[in-house]
Amino acid sequence: MSDDRVRVGLLGCGNVGAPLAALVRRRADDIAIRTGARLEIARVAVRSPAKDRGIELDSGVLTHDAAAVVDDPDIDVVVELIGGIEPARELILAAIKAGKPVVTANKELLANVGAELFAAAEDAGVDLLFEAAVGGGIPFIRPLRESLAGEEIRRIMGIVNGTTNYILTRMTEAGVSYADALSEAQNLGYAERDPTADVEGFDAGAKAAIIASIAFGSRVVAGDVYHEGISGITTADIDYARKMGYVVKLLAIAERTNGELGVRVHPAMVPAAHPLASVRDSFNAVFVEGDAVGELMFYGRGAGGYPTASAVLGDLVDAAVNRRKGSHASIGALSKATIRPIDEVETAYYLNLDVVDRPGVLAAVAGVFGRHGVSIRSMEQEGLGDEARLVFITHLAREAAVQATLRDLNHLDAVDRITSALRVIGTE
Ligand SMILES: NC(=O)c1ccc[n+]([C@@H]2O[C@H](COP(=O)([O-])OP(=O)(O)OC[C@H]3O[C@@H](n4cnc5c(N)ncnc54)[C@H](OP(=O)(O)O)[C@@H]3O)[C@@H](O)[C@H]2O)c1
Repeated sequence: MSDDRVRVGLLGCGNVGAPLAALVRRRADDIAIRTGARLEIARVAVRSPAKDRGIELDSGVLTHDAAAVVDDPDIDVVVELIGGIEPARELILAAIKAGKPVVTANKELLANVGAELFAAAEDAGVDLLFEAAVGGGIPFIRPLRESLAGEEIRRIMGIVNGTTNYILTRMTEAGVSYADALSEAQNLGYAERDPTADVEGFDAGAKAAIIASIAFGSRVVAGDVYHEGISGITTADIDYARKMGYVVKLLAIAERTNGELGVRVHPAMVPAAHPLASVRDSFNAVFVEGDAVGELMFYGRGAGGYPTASAVLGDLVDAAVNRRKGSHASIGALSKATIRPIDEVETAYYLNLDVVDRPGVLAAVAGVFGRHGVSIRSMEQEGLGDEARLVFITHLAREAAVQATLRDLNHLDAVDRITSALRVIGTE
């Protein structure tokens, strides 16, 4: 056997692991010619070794004992594609301790205990690479970490959850209700039977924590991220947004303001001409605003077996090459983050109110905005019989001030209902 072999221990062979094993087999010769490292899936740990995985694996490669794969002295690099916190965390720490580079796609793990794992990898001087953990197949972490290492990043906004983007696209383009769009997404396999993690913004929140950590060199965990999902969005919200020239998207936003980090996930109205507005179906995109570079957008498949396996394979090649050179990538020291509470975050809002059509109502409504220091950027009025509809877009305002305005408007006799209240981006 030649000594250019890099023996990979694969932990997990499911939606991503199986395509990865197939890709390594298919691409090993080309990768060896280009890099001098010949990747070989030497051992694979799964829960049920007897299950058919639809891929070719050498006999005796499968085992149910993931710890034995990590400990095997013949294994050079470990790829963790099990998911969840434990046993993934323990297995990764054991691999790092044994001096083995690790590649993972596990956003949940990194968003919760990433700092511990990065510190362990740094101490041991090995790679811990995770391109696929955010944006699936979109190469975005490496550009952020390397190409943009010197850039002063102001803000990153991402559509990082394909399920919710699919649902919002169907609501926007076909006018279907949230419930029907969700059930379509479930039938297509985009959404789980229990869709909470996607539709309530937990998944995007974990990714936002990882993005913020890398972009701003700070320790941000999933619990630091404010999140709202899309289950309250109606086709009426989407229609109002369209009339005003906007598209509704679920955004993960990380921004630095006066040394504090605001990291949040919520639906927002995006101007139709903004690059993020054109990201349809289950596609993902990450939009970066930097001081010197200006605006950049990374676009592609944010999930799916082969796209995600492609990103894992890129990391695997990197880890193999670094190992041969005796070097490793580093995300550098992560400082403690000062998180800006959502109440302090400033955003523009779109508000749509049905009010009684009588003299003095507009002044009363405007008075509520004024009392809370929320300044109005534009206002339109439509007659609706005895009622009138007032549509406001505010200037940037503190979240707490807008919420107080909404509470007071709800108590105003002349206001029948607040039909829509959505944050707006692109007005700054
Ligand atoms: N799927 C995507 O599109 C996607 C996109 C981006 C990131 N990711 C991330 O990639 C990772 C893997 O996701 P996936 O969709 O491939 O998951 P999956 O289809 O559920 O596969 C998980 C694999 O882990 C194995 N496994 C579970 N517990 C184990 C244990 N204790 N020891 C050994 N093996 C164990 C399972 O074995 P059995 O097959 O025998 O059950 C299965 O092969 C997750 O962190 C996920 O967040 C996935």
